[in-house]
Amino acid sequence: MLQAPIYAHIIGWGMALPTKVMTNKEISAFVETDDDWIFARTGIKERRIANEEESTATLAYTAAQRALEVADILPLDLDLVIVATSTPENIFPSTASLVQDWLNAHDAGAFDLSAACSGFVYALNMAADSIRAGSIKTAMVIGSETMSRILDWQDRSTCILFGDGAGAVVLAASEHPGGVLSSVLRSDGAGSDLLAIPSVGSIDAEESRAGANGYKLYKMYMAGGEVFKFATRVVNESIEQASKMAGIAVGDIDLVIPHQANFRILQAAARKLGIEIDKFMSNVEQYGNTSAASIPIALCEAIDQRRIHDKDHIALVGFGGGLTWASMIIQWGIPKPSEQHGSLLNRQRRNALYQMARLRSKSRRWRRRVKNTINEIR
Ligand code: COA
Repeated sequence: MLQAPIYAHIIGWGMALPTKVMTNKEISAFVETDDDWIFARTGIKERRIANEEESTATLAYTAAQRALEVADILPLDLDLVIVATSTPENIFPSTASLVQDWLNAHDAGAFDLSAACSGFVYALNMAADSIRAGSIKTAMVIGSETMSRILDWQDRSTCILFGDGAGAVVLAASEHPGGVLSSVLRSDGAGSDLLAIPSVGSIDAEESRAGANGYKLYKMYMAGGEVFKFATRVVNESIEQASKMAGIAVGDIDLVIPHQANFRILQAAARKLGIEIDKFMSNVEQYGNTSAASIPIALCEAIDQRRIHDKDHIALVGFGGGLTWASMIIQWGIPKPSEQHGSLLNRQRRNALYQMARLRSKSRRWRRRVKNTINEIR
């Protein structure tokens, strides 16, 4: 008997932003720049900065809880947790494993995905493919970053651009046609010198320590002009490719949710695609570039602003370090964005599971220590 095709739909979404706002004026107190320059060149007015208690994992956890709330499912229903990030809590364990533990999603696999600002689209594609292949039913896909921790705050050409935040979606199997229709993932490692954060395994690490090549270990380096040119080239190309794969014309796209790097990049892409700039979702003014988190945050805000309707074709497009870029066409389906979710009983069960998760981890660690001590005494 022929099996009905499986589709991968977004059924929940959530975002988390630090409360601390840093304005352009505040930045101009410690580097030589000003609000007019930053706004004219980038469209950015302010960004959010994590406090000491906030991290990539805590922001991801909050966004994920909110996404589960909208989907109105339990963390136990998750088969997979992916966190797209360039600012992971650790090299390992993955930030996704921390989130999986805190959520009490104990039947889920978890891993981080590194594709810089394209990471969320890459991760969503991986989850959608696993769902459509039938190997999993439900995934939590998160983009989360604390860019403030890897910025060189003395470098005015990069520190003005970035901010912190997280966005998450629940992706689920459905027989309802639509959902993720197509994805185009690309990379050009020849551009790896244009945008980078040298880390522990870097062959540049020793030089980085000495500062010989201009890189600083764990700090972002960017050749802004080159990256700008790359971005304005690939955004429209990859949206065109993803549209073709999805069997739609570019003109059928109802809303583009692009990576929020620079408003001028979006204007250039809109011009090249022949799409009104109004069809590009943008919140770069308030949050700056939150790397892998920017697309899911913009998606959440587009839903809140009721800019997404049933059957709409949505284009996601990410671009950044690697170099990497990625586009995806989604046909919005279930549930309707205006629907209210969250039954009281399920909310209570979720909250109980979050409480139990903390106790479960603590008791497992405690039991391990006691066992080790007993073994040592023996
Ligand atoms: N404030 C004031 N002046 C600044 C400045 C700042 N924050 N940063 C750079 N400048 C200066 C430069 O020193 C340079 O001065 P000079 O002409 O005396 O040498 C001048 O402004 C022009 O610099 P340039 O780098 O050519 O500016 P630009 O128009 O390319 O804008 C970026 C710089 C970073 C805003 C722009 O290149 C950009 O947005 N690139 C893409 C970055 C991006 O999106 N990265 C993430 C991708 S995921």
